[in-house]
Order: sequence, then structure tokens, then C-alpha cells
Amino acid sequence: MNQMTKKPLIDLLSSQVRADIDHWITKYPEEQKQSAVMAALRIVQDDNKGHLTNELMDAVASYLDMPNIAVYEVATFYSMYEHAPVGRHKICVCNSVSCLLNGSPGLLDYLQEKLGVKLGEITADGKFSIKEVECLGACVGAPAVMIGKDYYENLTREKIDQILEELD
Ligand code: FES
Repeated sequence: MNQMTKKPLIDLLSSQVRADIDHWITKYPEEQKQSAVMAALRIVQDDNKGHLTNELMDAVASYLDMPNIAVYEVATFYSMYEHAPVGRHKICVCNSVSCLLNGSPGLLDYLQEKLGVKLGEITADGKFSIKEVECLGACVGAPAVMIGKDYYENLTREKIDQILEELD
């Protein structure tokens, strides 16, 4: 598609996505709609099977009247935003101190072996990908992982087996 026939950026955001972003925009003063950028990126990412593209980030920038670079800064700073495809279930393994001391390295090795993928890769069926993240704020339940929006704590290999078994 050449430059002349490129769709306007706004068209990359579905009407539902725009409505969801608008909901967040209303939470801030009218002249500060850029404050909704984190929510907007999350909404757009969820709508795009879990990852962002440059075009989608540009569309968010356009929608919120922000410079593109300001959106990239947010989207690359926080680990919850993805810039490459992920599995249907993204397994985020905490690698911070409480989890490290309570066995997260062994758990990570086990997950990679069990699923046959390394960090950042996706299983052949598209179901899982694994990622290392900083503290999930669940230190009291270390070792902890987040899968999608759910937290799992005090994990063992047996618990991991059971959790993965129950996911669609
Ligand atoms: Fe793992 Fe805090 S160190 S949740």
C-alpha cells in the first residue's frame, strides 16, 4: 500500500476501542486527555492479540493528540506492553529477589522445558509464551507468576502443571 492509499491512523482503532479509550479520557480534565495513554495502549494491545505495533502506537498518539515519541516512551518503559506477538496466555515469571530466593529460576527452566520454548518464543499452537518480569508485587506468595490478568503464587512444578492444564 503506498502513502497515497494508506488508511488514516484513526481507522486502525475500532469503534469499540475508541469508545473504551473515550471512557478513560473522561476520567481526566478535558485538556489532559494524554493522561489516558497507558489505558489506551492497554486497550489497543488487548484488541491486537496482546501486542502493539508502531502503527497502533501512532494511532494512539494521533487519537490523544500526543507526539508519537511520547507514546513510544511509555510503551517501551513498562514491561506490560509487548512489541512482538505473544501466546494466547502470556506467562510472566517474576525474577526479583523474593521469587529468586524461592525458586523462580528453577520454575522458569521447568516452564521452558515443559512448553518447549525459550523466553520470548511462542508455542507452536500459539497458546503460550514466557516472559521474565520484575517484581509483581506478590512477594509474600513467592515464587509468583502472572498469566494474563491472573496471579498465581507459592508455585511448585506440580502447581504449574495443574494451572497450565486448566487453561484453554
Ligand atoms: Fe516476585 Fe515480588 S519478588 S512478586
